[in-house]
Amino acid sequence: MAYPDDLVELVDGFLEELRFGEAPSVSPLLEAMRYSLLGGGKRIRPVLLLAAAQAYGVDPAAALPTAAALEMIHTYSLIHDDLPAFDDDVLRRGQPTCHVKFGEAVAILAGDALFAEAFRLICERQEAEPAVTLAVVQEISEATGVKGMVGGQYLDVSGLVTGEAQLKLLHRLKTGRLIAACVNSGGLLAGVSASELEVLAGFAAELGLLFQIKDDILDVVGDTEVLGKQAGADARLKRSTYVSVYGLKTAQELARRSLSRALAALDGIQGRMGTLAGITNYIYERQR
Ligand code: IPE
Ligand code: IPE
Ligand code: MG
Ligand code: MG
Ligand code: MG
Repeated sequence: MAYPDDLVELVDGFLEELRFGEAPSVSPLLEAMRYSLLGGGKRIRPVLLLAAAQAYGVDPAAALPTAAALEMIHTYSLIHDDLPAFDDDVLRRGQPTCHVKFGEAVAILAGDALFAEAFRLICERQEAEPAVTLAVVQEISEATGVKGMVGGQYLDVSGLVTGEAQLKLLHRLKTGRLIAACVNSGGLLAGVSASELEVLAGFAAELGLLFQIKDDILDVVGDTEVLGKQAGADARLKRSTYVSVYGLKTAQELARRSLSRALAALDGIQGRMGTLAGITNYIYERQR
């Protein structure tokens, strides 16, 4: 089953129409935000949220504000990840990185603004029971904070990660947790039961791990032109990755096993899980 282009189109259309402010004095900041947000990207996170909600009968269009918010948070994390203080990358989504184009100060603020505007978007435009909105905001903020993406980014740049258990934790936090939040938030918006949510979260956590193992592999075997970002960044930065710790062949085998576990977890879930299975296969097979 293929990657759902119809959901990508929905997300892109919604993102394109977003406006964060009007004051002419901040227009360069707005330009930087839109430059990074609209400049390509596979839209895996918002598409995952829409697919998860849809699997339980929600019209994807009704979940777009939260889906877009997740892409905004992801984009913020990319802008900051590319900064000289982090990975010092000059290419992202096939174009110069935000700080190369607009300068470091504006790039930092563009990231900060996308993060805050993401939560404003959910609060102002996501139609849901207040308790559901609160649960979604709690899930996404936890996935982004110390117990999630930011904590993982810290582990990554600390240079202190050694060994298999710490590497897995790094991946779960840095990337896996936000990916999982996308699936889980789809379930929350659909109002699934707590026990159902727990099963869904099991799938989501495995998918998040698979995603980052594949990202590590692509950094070694991928093509800069196709990736839209410079291959070989991890070796240059001497980062602990699945490839540096296990070697390429074993990393590929571990990705394959992670794929099997994710698909098996999906099998145990009620609902129409075909689109989520398609996205899972895409995350494993992708070349960018
Ligand atoms: C790249 O994410 C950054 C990581 C979390 C490893 P994606 O591969 O989803 O990047 P885009 O959004 O398609 O550019
Ligand atoms: C970045 O991981 C993860 C986040 C942005 C949270 P990477 O540094 O591996 O991402 P790429 O490879 O630059 O996209
Ligand atoms: Mg990084
Ligand atoms: Mg990076
Ligand atoms: Mg990477």
